[in-house]
Amino acid sequence: MAIIGQGYVGLTVSAFAAEFFEVVGFDNNSMVVDMLNQGQSHIEGVESSDLKKWISAGRYKATTRGQDIADADIAVIAVPTPLTRDRIPDLAFIEAACRTIGTHIEKSILVINESTSYPGTLRDFIRPTIEKYSETPVVHRYAISPERVDPGRGDFNQKNTPRLYAGLSPEASKQTRDFYSKFCDHLVEVSSPEVAEAAKLFENTFRQVNIALVNEFAQIAHALGISVYETLDAANTKPYGFMKFTPSAGVGGHCIPVDPTYLAAVAEEHGAPATFIRRANEVNLEMSEYIVRRVAADNGGNLQGKTVLVVGVAYKPNVADVRETAAELVIGHLRNQGAVVSWHDDVVSRWKGESSAPLEGADITVVVTKHDSVDEKRILSSAPYVFDTTGKIRGAKGL
Ligand SMILES: NC(=O)c1ccc[n+]([C@@H]2O[C@H](COP(=O)([O-])OP(=O)(O)OC[C@H]3O[C@@H](n4cnc5c(N)ncnc54)[C@H](O)[C@@H]3O)[C@@H](O)[C@H]2O)c1
Repeated sequence: MAIIGQGYVGLTVSAFAAEFFEVVGFDNNSMVVDMLNQGQSHIEGVESSDLKKWISAGRYKATTRGQDIADADIAVIAVPTPLTRDRIPDLAFIEAACRTIGTHIEKSILVINESTSYPGTLRDFIRPTIEKYSETPVVHRYAISPERVDPGRGDFNQKNTPRLYAGLSPEASKQTRDFYSKFCDHLVEVSSPEVAEAAKLFENTFRQVNIALVNEFAQIAHALGISVYETLDAANTKPYGFMKFTPSAGVGGHCIPVDPTYLAAVAEEHGAPATFIRRANEVNLEMSEYIVRRVAADNGGNLQGKTVLVVGVAYKPNVADVRETAAELVIGHLRNQGAVVSWHDDVVSRWKGESSAPLEGADITVVVTKHDSVDEKRILSSAPYVFDTTGKIRGAKGL
C-alpha cells in the first residue's frame, strides 16, 4: 500500500499498517524520507525501533519517487489541509497528492482520504482530480476515513480509537472496512462520505467553541474576583450535562485553529451562517493579548525593557509541534510592549531561528505550555513574577 504524506497522520498509520501490508511511504520532503529510511522517526508515538524493525523486514520504505507507488492496491492520502492567507481552505496539497496517484497508478485501486477537509472533498474534488491526472481511464474505489490521532496521547491510539468511514460505493466501503479492521477495533460506517467529513470538522469545532467559551469565562471570573479553576471544578461536580474545558493562551496545532474555518467556509458558501464558529476563533486568538495585558497590569502597567521568559512554545504539552502555537502570539504582544523576550522549551529546542534559553534569570516568566519534563520548582524560581496560563503551577499568578 502507498501512504501519501509521512507526517503525524501518515507515519502513524504506516507504522500500524506495516504489520499487515508492505507499506511505501511517499513524501515530497527528501529530508524526512532520508531520515525515515535510516529508521529515525520524527513523530511522537512512532518509535524508531518499530520503524527499523519494519524496514529490515522489508515491510516499510519511504520514497520521494512517484513511480514507487505504482504497484499499490490501496493509497491513503494524509497531507496537510491548511488555510490560505485569506483564511480559506487550501486544497493544494491534496491536489498534489491526487496528481501523484493519478499519474503513477494505472490499475484500479482503493483510494482513502484521511486528511481533514470539508464535506464534498472526496466526491467533488479528490475523485475528479485523480481522474484528471490519470493517463489511462481507470475507475478507482474512493473512501474517506478521517483521522482522529492525538499526537503524544498514550491512552487512545489507532487501535482503540473508533474510526468513521464511508465509501463512494458499497464496494469501497467494504474494502475500507477490511483494511482498517486489521489494526482498528472499532469501525463506524456512516451513510455518506459527506457525513464522515462533516463529523470530523464538527468534532474539532466543538472543541474550539468550548475552549473559546471557557477562555471568555476566565476573563469574566477574573473581573468578578473569583477563581475560574475553582468555579469549573464546582460546575464539574454535576454528573451530567457538563463537560469541563480549561482556559489557556489559545488553541494551536494543525486542527483546532483550522478545521472550524473549513466548516465556516463551506457553511457560508451554502448561505448558512457560521457566526458562532467565527467568533470562537476570534476569542481564542484574542487570549494572547488579554494575557499580556494582565501581565503588564501586574508589573506596573509597563513591560518596556523587562526580560520575559516564555515557557513552552509547543502548542500542547509533550510534543514538539509548534504549528499555530499561541506562544507565537504571546511573544509578539510582549515584544510590541517593549519586553525583551526569550523562550524555554526543551522539547522544541529550536524554533524560528532561535534556541531554547535557560530556565532562569528573567524579570517575568509566562508559562504557555507545561511539558511533563519541566520542573515546576525551576519555573517558579526562574523569575520573581510567574504568570501561568495552564493552571498547573501552584504558587504562580494565573488566569
Ligand atoms: N496532526 C494531527 O494531530 C491530525 C489529527 C487528525 C487529522 N489530521 C489531518 O491529517 C492531515 C495531515 O496532517 P499531519 O498532521 O499528518 O501533517 P504533517 O505536516 O505532519 O505531515 C504531512 C506530510 O505530508 C507531506 N506532503 C505534503 N505535500 C505532499 C505531497 N503532495 N505528496 C507527498 N507528501 C506531501 C509533508 O512533507 C509532510 O511530511 C491534515 O489534513 C490534518 O488536518 C491531523
